[in-house]
Amino acid sequence: MKRTTVVPSAYRGMHVGIIMDGNGRWAASRGLPRTAGHRAGVRTARKIVEAATRAGVGTLTLYAFSADNWSRPTPEVGALMRLFRRSLLGESKRCVDNGVRLTIVGRRDRLPSSLLSTIQEAEAMTAHGRNLHLRVAIDYSARESILQAASAAGGETLTREQFGRLLAQVNHDPFPIADLDLLVRTGGEQRLSDFLLWESAYAEFYFTPRMWPEFTEEQFLGALGEFELRERRFGGVPEQVAS
Ligand code: IPE
Ligand code: IPE
Ligand code: MG
Repeated sequence: MKRTTVVPSAYRGMHVGIIMDGNGRWAASRGLPRTAGHRAGVRTARKIVEAATRAGVGTLTLYAFSADNWSRPTPEVGALMRLFRRSLLGESKRCVDNGVRLTIVGRRDRLPSSLLSTIQEAEAMTAHGRNLHLRVAIDYSARESILQAASAAGGETLTREQFGRLLAQVNHDPFPIADLDLLVRTGGEQRLSDFLLWESAYAEFYFTPRMWPEFTEEQFLGALGEFELRERRFGGVPEQVAS
């Protein structure tokens, strides 16, 4: 595998989050089982991770499985857990070659033990990656994380930074994560579905009707391009942004 050379980039410090939605509908529209959509979704994820690395994005958080997704039919949940494990086994080497640090965020106590050990191996193997920090959210709920972090504070008044550290801890994040800059959601829905609620305070949103298995590098770069055209004011006035 060729080592990806990362050029200095305007996206360097950027945190992009993606709600990878639409696998099931993509499969159904082709008369395929939903699990075929999830397998196709993994191929898209691989392409977009490579595109993000080439574009020099700093952090990419992919929403792979929400805490509410446990409510899906057992065979689909089982197939997803097996697919996560297989993908991690297959992709870790590619991550090392491309300088990608891979971490999994979310609860860990409900994951199958075989997946858990694969996660730990993948994280250890890729820990030295410096080009891109790839975070994959599995059994993740932003609301539950916020509740847990607030409970851990035990009634103390915290700064945002201190709260961010607690939030990282409850999600098994190696360090507190930067605010989200750009949130992409494929699949046509325009909602957050319990993803990165705290981190999205000033995120720019990009929604596309394209189903995740059909999302392309070109579209991803288009979303980054559109982000660059947005004027982020963070509560200030345009003159302050320009200076
Ligand atoms: C997203 O695709 C992947 C997961 C939630 C695991 P969906 O499975 O939600 O696909 P749709 O939204 O039903 O098409
Ligand atoms: C959000 O998609 C979760 C992931 C993409 C992993 P869902 O398909 O679960 O969200 P809703 O049910 O449409 O809100
Ligand atoms: Mg969905």
